[in-house]
Amino acid sequence: MPIQIAFIADPHLCIQARRRNLMSLLDRKLWANIDVFSQVDPDGPENHFAALRPSSYDDVPLLAAADFLGEFARQLDLLVVLGDLATSGLDEDLAVAEQVFLDDRTKEHLNAALEPRLGGLGIPLHVIPGNHDRYKDDYATPGCQKFDEVFKSVYRPKNGVCSEIISSDGVSLALISADFCFAEGAEISYVRRLGRGAVDDIVLSELDHKTRIFQREHPTMPVVWALHFSPAEGVSTALALEEREKVIHLAGTLGVNHIFCGHTHLRKREIGTHPHVYCAGSVSSVDSSDNHFLHVCTIDRNSSGELELEVFDLKYDETEDEFTAHPVSLVA
Ligand SMILES: [Fe+2]
Repeated sequence: MPIQIAFIADPHLCIQARRRNLMSLLDRKLWANIDVFSQVDPDGPENHFAALRPSSYDDVPLLAAADFLGEFARQLDLLVVLGDLATSGLDEDLAVAEQVFLDDRTKEHLNAALEPRLGGLGIPLHVIPGNHDRYKDDYATPGCQKFDEVFKSVYRPKNGVCSEIISSDGVSLALISADFCFAEGAEISYVRRLGRGAVDDIVLSELDHKTRIFQREHPTMPVVWALHFSPAEGVSTALALEEREKVIHLAGTLGVNHIFCGHTHLRKREIGTHPHVYCAGSVSSVDSSDNHFLHVCTIDRNSSGELELEVFDLKYDETEDEFTAHPVSLVA
């Protein structure tokens, strides 16, 4: 049995499902429906439009993702969530993310109210904070640390870096993740902090240190990295990881061949260069309509005894209401 790891990114859980904002309308050309949105009572919980508040999640693909994870829980060695678990770091948004990922009172993937609950499935969980998880308010003020408190049972970083070893049938893999969200107190302009992160030298140094330790202690064990922000070339300026070249250079120096990331909400593989960068599409962001993905990574020995890593993409099919295999493409 190979190692099997499920990756999901950017669920954007929130106290208010299906909340859209001005950017959603522009992206999806929904201005034709703006009169529908504006008729809704602005104080009512059913209001799905908030001009400047961050947009949230679509509960339909989220339920389908929970169905998938519930069905294959016993075959999965790890579930990695690549950031933006919540729409903001506000208590009420983080509480929804906590319920979905950590509540283990039910051993099923849904509770009695048919809401997704993954904590009782028995899949080990690895989480990384994204820029939204670190928003102190609806204006993207960075540096919120409440994520660390809420997820302390599974998130115990040192200098922003977490690591673990996954093993199955004599095959082992080290997964190391790093948090490149803006630090608390950083003076960041509104436009810059909305969608960007920056390589922090202390976090990068810890990533370097931790990777070297694993490689020294386990010379035959491959190491993969997981980040929220994509270090790939060609990411739009608004979503960039500032000084991304430092990550790519360090991966080259250390021989880390695979980096998994989220944030862009676009499924993309950059595998013609080194390292290979796998950008996960958002599993349930309301702004990613008809573009929701989850991913399964397998690591196994081939007939020559060499370790092989494969990534399988699954896309949410609205007609089937389930995630189905999606062909590999190099294009987003
Ligand atoms: Fe996101």
